[in-house]
Amino acid sequence: MSLKNYDAGCSTVGCHQQLSAMRWVHAPISTNDCSACHELIKDSTDNLTDNSTGNPSEHLFKPVVTDGSTCKACHSFDQSPISSHEPFDLGTCHDCHDPHGGDRKSFINTESTQALCAKCHDPVAMEFEHHPVTSGDCLTCHQPHQSNHPNLLVQNQETLCYGCHQDMDHAGVLSGSPMTQGQTNVHEPMYTQGCTACHSTHGSDIAGMLLKDQRSMCLGCHEQVIEDLPQAMSIHGAFQGELACTQCHVPHASEYDGLLTVDSSALCYTCHDQPIETQSGRTLQSMKELVEKSPVVHEPVALGQCTACHASHFSSHQSLLLENYPNSDYEQYAPGIYASCTECHDKALVESQFTTLTGFRDGDQNLHYVHTNQKKGRSCGMCHQPHAGSLPKLMREQFPFGPGGWELQIGFVQSKTGGTCMSACHEKRSYNNSDTP
Ligand code: HEC
Ligand code: HEC
Ligand code: HEC
Ligand code: HEC
Ligand code: HEC
Ligand code: HEC
Ligand code: HEC
Ligand code: HEC
Ligand code: HEC
Ligand code: HEC
Ligand code: HEC
Ligand code: HEC
Ligand code: HEC
Repeated sequence: MSLKNYDAGCSTVGCHQQLSAMRWVHAPISTNDCSACHELIKDSTDNLTDNSTGNPSEHLFKPVVTDGSTCKACHSFDQSPISSHEPFDLGTCHDCHDPHGGDRKSFINTESTQALCAKCHDPVAMEFEHHPVTSGDCLTCHQPHQSNHPNLLVQNQETLCYGCHQDMDHAGVLSGSPMTQGQTNVHEPMYTQGCTACHSTHGSDIAGMLLKDQRSMCLGCHEQVIEDLPQAMSIHGAFQGELACTQCHVPHASEYDGLLTVDSSALCYTCHDQPIETQSGRTLQSMKELVEKSPVVHEPVALGQCTACHASHFSSHQSLLLENYPNSDYEQYAPGIYASCTECHDKALVESQFTTLTGFRDGDQNLHYVHTNQKKGRSCGMCHQPHAGSLPKLMREQFPFGPGGWELQIGFVQSKTGGTCMSACHEKRSYNNSDTP
């Protein structure tokens, strides 16, 4: 075959015919404008070097300049993007594109976008992988060339995720108007920093695709929560462990205050609805069952206000109490030692020697004062249940006496004008609290 005249075009039958037979043909190819990119090497007489022989295998071309200038002669791009892809900057367009055309739109030179990106970015295997990443949809989040956002992102990072996770846009980051129904308490980083404050975008070895283990992540922003932990006397079992925080809090948005998983009145019963074995081997009775089966329930308990007396995280008092409360059965009264009770109940109930403020009096002699204001003062818990019980006035039926686990019966019986305690701490005694003794 001989070729003396190039005017017929290079992609004619028998020559570079396959270039115009691809599914997608690059415009200059279809117009036979090979010289837009290929420059023939000509001799001194400006004749084509192979004109003498007419042998096409001898026609020589200068190497195509691959700094992008060839392509940029026809294609223009943003001059000052925020981020730009390295191979695009280097102008090695043919790393990704077949310059002539191809079977894929945009003449991508691999069978898929996923394979294209994987040519240079090794897929990293992770235990918890993000669906669009594993399915190779890199371009739903990234631009291939340049972008007006960092990391070649198609949108700013704060809103990118809401595009697919619209159901989480309670604050209205994308839509512009917060959802008015349902989970209206939105965790602040959801609208100030976006999802990537907590999540890794491609995947992670931590469940939920988190950046760090959950506890360190929450505490990373909420250091003040554990500021007083070193002084703690009791630490909640629920507050310990890596997944502690989300046992009570949701990370995104909640319809309840404090980002709680359920209403605060139901929160504690999500675990204390059954007996709990403590780390020290003790069994805590089911608080829910106790309350449900008891005829007398302390009002704050009945209202589900556990946190009126207890801390949820930890406390510098025993039993997670917010205030002082003696740990022993006997304690000489001093102001403040029963703050757990006197937060709500008038302290005159114990402090005044003579008063009609309390029902526990004989005449106007305050029997609370008598019992608590002595060296071996009885603590409130010796006579009362803090939560619920079967007797009026939350009186206990018995209390543990001595180390043997023996239970001492109090035998409290209420009457119209007072009450009686049977022989236990002392011989059977009655008191009269009616105004007409
Ligand atoms: C848009 C620019 C451009 C146009 C137009 C163009 N080419 Fe190319 N061509 C290139 C580049 C770039 C390479 C080098 C590719 C590489 O190194 O991977 C190349 C390589 C070639 C090669 C050698 C490698 C191969 O793919 O077989 C041939 C043959 C070729 N071109 C023929 C043509 C013909 C014929 C035309 C016109 C019908 C044409 N080209 C038009 C850019 C172009
Ligand atoms: C002579 C001008 C010219 C040169 C040089 C040129 N192109 Fe093109 N290119 C076009 C035209 C015209 C189109 C079709 C119109 C369009 O879609 O922008 C096109 C289309 C494309 C497309 C497909 C666009 C789509 O929508 O699918 C790609 C990819 C492309 N060019 C890449 C390149 C690369 C890579 C180079 C350099 C190797 C290059 N072009 C050089 C003129 C040129
Ligand atoms: C890292 C791979 C990669 C490199 C390098 C690259 N591209 Fe692309 N390019 C793509 C992909 C992928 C698409 C398809 C985008 C899509 O479908 O949304 C594309 C699309 C295009 C298009 C058509 C759509 C558009 O954005 O106009 C043109 C034209 C184009 N590239 C030209 C170039 C030129 C010129 C260069 C070199 C300066 C270049 N590309 C370098 C991957 C690349
Ligand atoms: C020819 C090699 C090559 C291909 C193909 C390639 N990349 Fe890259 N990419 C690089 C290099 C080199 C860098 C810069 C070094 C780095 O960050 O790893 C980079 C950086 C990036 C960055 C970080 C940009 C920044 O501003 O920090 C993203 C995102 C990226 N590539 C996405 C992609 C996607 C998506 C694809 C497939 C469409 C792809 N790359 C295909 C070579 C490539
Ligand atoms: C759901 C959106 C999303 C998808 C899908 C996605 N990325 Fe990314 N990618 C991001 C975001 C956001 C960043 C910014 C850094 C970060 O937060 O991890 C990023 C960063 C990058 C970086 C630069 C930082 C790094 O990790 O080296 C590269 C490279 C990259 N992506 C490549 C890819 C490739 C390749 C794919 C497809 C297999 C892909 N991405 C799919 C969202 C995505
Ligand atoms: C293209 C759509 C799309 C985009 C954009 C997207 N996601 Fe996803 N994401 C999904 C799909 C699909 C799933 C898997 C289905 C599911 O679990 O709901 C998922 C699941 C997740 C999961 C749960 C993973 C697990 O192990 O349970 C997290 C976390 C997540 N995405 C975070 C993000 C973050 C952060 C961004 C923004 C950088 C983002 N997503 C952007 C589609 C998307
Ligand atoms: C303050 C940290 C934080 C932020 C911000 C955050 N997440 Fe999460 N996300 C978590 C934690 C922690 C989990 C694990 C919850 C669990 O295991 O109970 C999680 C779980 C998920 C899950 C899987 C379980 C589920 O609830 O469906 C998806 C999907 C998810 N997040 C998407 C997102 C998206 C999308 C955004 C941004 C709109 C986002 N997250 C913002 C901390 C966060
Ligand atoms: C990126 C930082 C960040 C991370 C991570 C984070 N938070 Fe927050 N969180 C905030 C900010 C900011 C506020 C609002 C200011 C405040 O109340 O301290 C807030 C508020 C809260 C509130 C109070 C809400 C209210 O309405 O009173 C709770 C509870 C909370 N976060 C729990 C968590 C838990 C649980 C985690 C881990 C799953 C976590 N946070 C992770 C930044 C963070
Ligand atoms: C047993 C349930 C429970 C657990 C476990 C728990 N919290 Fe709380 N947390 C609460 C309750 C109840 C509140 C009070 C809510 C309110 O203000 O209405 C609260 C309040 C908060 C507050 C806002 C008030 C403050 O103290 O600053 C933050 C922040 C917080 N928790 C973070 C955490 C973190 C971090 C963890 C994990 C280390 C955690 N919580 C574990 C129940 C819990
Ligand atoms: C996620 C489960 C869970 C939730 C929710 C929960 N707890 Fe607990 N709680 C425990 C466990 C487990 C223990 C036993 C800890 C131990 O080993 O000492 C415990 C122990 C206690 C103790 C005894 C502590 C001591 O030092 O004697 C009190 C008091 C307590 N919880 C109160 C509450 C209150 C109040 C709430 C609601 C704000 C609540 N709990 C919610 C799991 C939970
Ligand atoms: C009026 C204050 C008050 C309220 C309200 C209250 N508690 Fe208590 N709780 C106490 C006191 C005081 C103790 C310590 C009892 C003791 O030392 O004998 C205690 C002890 C406990 C214990 C440990 C029991 C043990 O055997 O060590 C648990 C568990 C407990 N409370 C759970 C709850 C739950 C759940 C609620 C809400 C339904 C609640 N408390 C409401 C005062 C209260
Ligand atoms: C959060 C507030 C609050 C705290 C703290 C509190 N109480 Fe009460 N208590 C009440 C309310 C409200 C009532 C019902 C109205 C009343 O009798 O004053 C009540 C009633 C009582 C009764 C009478 C029950 C009946 O059936 O009539 C006793 C006994 C009692 N409390 C003991 C205690 C003891 C002991 C403590 C400390 C462990 C304590 N309270 C802590 C709010 C509280
Ligand atoms: C020796 C047993 C005993 C001790 C100790 C005791 N109480 Fe009582 N308390 C009673 C009796 C009995 C009643 C019932 C009085 C009546 O008949 O109404 C009562 C009634 C109450 C009432 C109901 C209102 C009233 O005053 O009648 C409250 C509140 C109360 N006690 C709180 C406390 C507090 C707080 C402490 C600890 C500082 C405490 N009690 C210690 C036996 C005791």
